[in-house]
Amino acid sequence: MIQIAPSMLSADFLHLEKDVELVNMHADLFHLDIMDGVFVPNISYGFPVVDAMACRAEKPMDAHLMIIKPEKFVERFAKSGVSMLSFHLNASDDPASTVDLIHGCGMKAGMAINPDIPVESLFPYLDKCEYLLLMSVFAGFGGQKFIEDTYGRLRVLKAEILRRGLDCLIEVDGGVSAANAPALAEAGADILVAGSAVFKAEDPASVISSMRDASSRPFMIKK
Ligand code: DX5
Ligand code: ZN
Repeated sequence: MIQIAPSMLSADFLHLEKDVELVNMHADLFHLDIMDGVFVPNISYGFPVVDAMACRAEKPMDAHLMIIKPEKFVERFAKSGVSMLSFHLNASDDPASTVDLIHGCGMKAGMAINPDIPVESLFPYLDKCEYLLLMSVFAGFGGQKFIEDTYGRLRVLKAEILRRGLDCLIEVDGGVSAANAPALAEAGADILVAGSAVFKAEDPASVISSMRDASSRPFMIKK
């Protein structure tokens, strides 16, 4: 069953508790986008907000670090109660050691790549990570248009994971909606991140359930 991870970047920060409860009731994970204005050209939120969400979160928190030197903050995210921590492959001087550090702090480790980085660059790390984060937009902002090339990249990554008999999951992030969820599930996605599609909707709960339902139906490829 595919997991749905609403991106809290698009939540209503004036009424954050309401959106945290929505995820508790209807979704699987909290996706927390952490940006430093250096690795990506935007700044999001930091520990005061993460800690506030942690007070109410009943589903696991999945933090997506878009920061340079991610290893500096691994322990701090563990202290906040994050249970899945991903960082960008090209943001770390030593990705394998960063994964070890994440594991040492008791969290699941994920490696993320932007759409311009070959998926093959993740291959050496597939057996070390619990999940991979495949960006389907360039990291930095919510509300961008899904990049169609993602399907092909996802298939290549999934094929390599299956060929090697690994159980590493693939999370797809950026421009994901109920419209492309079935095709993404069919191409091999295990976790779908959705920010604006969920929180800008009139009925976020029904968007989450239609993403999940659509993804569990066999997808017919149109010729
Ligand atoms: C972008 C973030 C995404 C973003 C997704 O840098 O990693 O998680 O919030 O937002 P939508 O679903 O609106 O593209
Ligand atoms: Zn993200």
